[in-house]
Amino acid sequence: LDNGLALTPPMGWLSWQRYRCNIDCFNDPDNCISEKLYMRMAQLLVSEGYSKLGYTYVNIDDCWMEMERDPNGTLVADRKRFPHGIKWLADYVHSLGLKLGIYEDFGTFTCGGYPGSMFYLQKDAETFASWGIDMVKLDGCYADISDMDFGYPAMSFFLNQTGRPMLYSCSWPAYVVFNGQVPDYKKIASYCNIWRNYADIQDSWDSVKDIIQFYGNDTGSFSLVAGPGNFNDPDMIIVGDYGLSYDQQQVQMAMWAIMAAPLLMSIDLGNVKPETKRLLQNDGVIRVNQEFHGIQGRRIIKDNTFEVWFKPMSVDAKGGAFAFLNLNDAGGPIQVQMPLSKLGLMEGEGYNVTEGFTGKFIGTLKPHDLINASINPTGVWFGIAYFDC
Ligand code: GLA
Repeated sequence: LDNGLALTPPMGWLSWQRYRCNIDCFNDPDNCISEKLYMRMAQLLVSEGYSKLGYTYVNIDDCWMEMERDPNGTLVADRKRFPHGIKWLADYVHSLGLKLGIYEDFGTFTCGGYPGSMFYLQKDAETFASWGIDMVKLDGCYADISDMDFGYPAMSFFLNQTGRPMLYSCSWPAYVVFNGQVPDYKKIASYCNIWRNYADIQDSWDSVKDIIQFYGNDTGSFSLVAGPGNFNDPDMIIVGDYGLSYDQQQVQMAMWAIMAAPLLMSIDLGNVKPETKRLLQNDGVIRVNQEFHGIQGRRIIKDNTFEVWFKPMSVDAKGGAFAFLNLNDAGGPIQVQMPLSKLGLMEGEGYNVTEGFTGKFIGTLKPHDLINASINPTGVWFGIAYFDC
């Protein structure tokens, strides 16, 4: 979507995976969906050093509303959990230099059973604009797939008509895929800034691996429509939750960087181990993810449980980021020798190669020189190659 937003993949925080639809503020006041949670996460994005690296969106997900609209048909935030209302929360988030995202659903209800936007698309777009919202995630529960072809574009139009720039995140293709069809990604990209195209991430390695496979298969060549203003969204970052080993955390960060994916952390930012925080704030990861061409990396070799992924970082194969993935969950590290030529890097004078996480200089390698990598089970070797002319 050409609205000036998401020129690189958006970065920030989103509540769903970690905090779900926890509305029990009586027994679990620190973790329930409430203005306090979003305020605390906004503060932590700043105080823990995330926001200055680009993590600037604070995104509300499902379960923020009252069960009924007001008599004028306007959405209302839960009066107990958001006593000051969303506009006040947006002002607070903006005062910290951050942006506020919100969640709605194209159908009659949200996935959690709250009022959906069906028949209220224009009104809701106007409400969000009047509150100072910066990003809208529009889910697709309780809707007909056939209505989405005009409904999601309609919301795109209404958001645009408000005059307030709001990044538009569509779950549209995910519902098309669940229905067994191949989405029209070009059309989706013309109406949405980012879009979910696959199952919800869960806090597990199986889930991360499954998403990586879906992206590797790239059915419908959705990787090709990625670029400034348009990004596929493989779902939230769970690095900092409970389900991944350190190697697996490295896989998620390297792969989300290579896939030019939105980096929306769904974790308790107040409780992140130092090594995990360093990974979330890793310079190589963020640089690769935010590279301005916004090219989505693709799987170029698949050999059983070994995969090679490559993300061009220029339009003429002068450099890129790559991942050697060991998806085997048994045994010890595998040893890989790989020439740059297999990544499509053919400049005779050679490339400066660094290890992506540490920035360690590996050498200036010619296309047929070998990269030697040792890769742990369910782990990754993440590299960056630059051609210096
Ligand atoms: C769907 C979405 C999730 C989340 C929930 C909320 O499952 O895919 O990301 O927003 O709904 O109910």
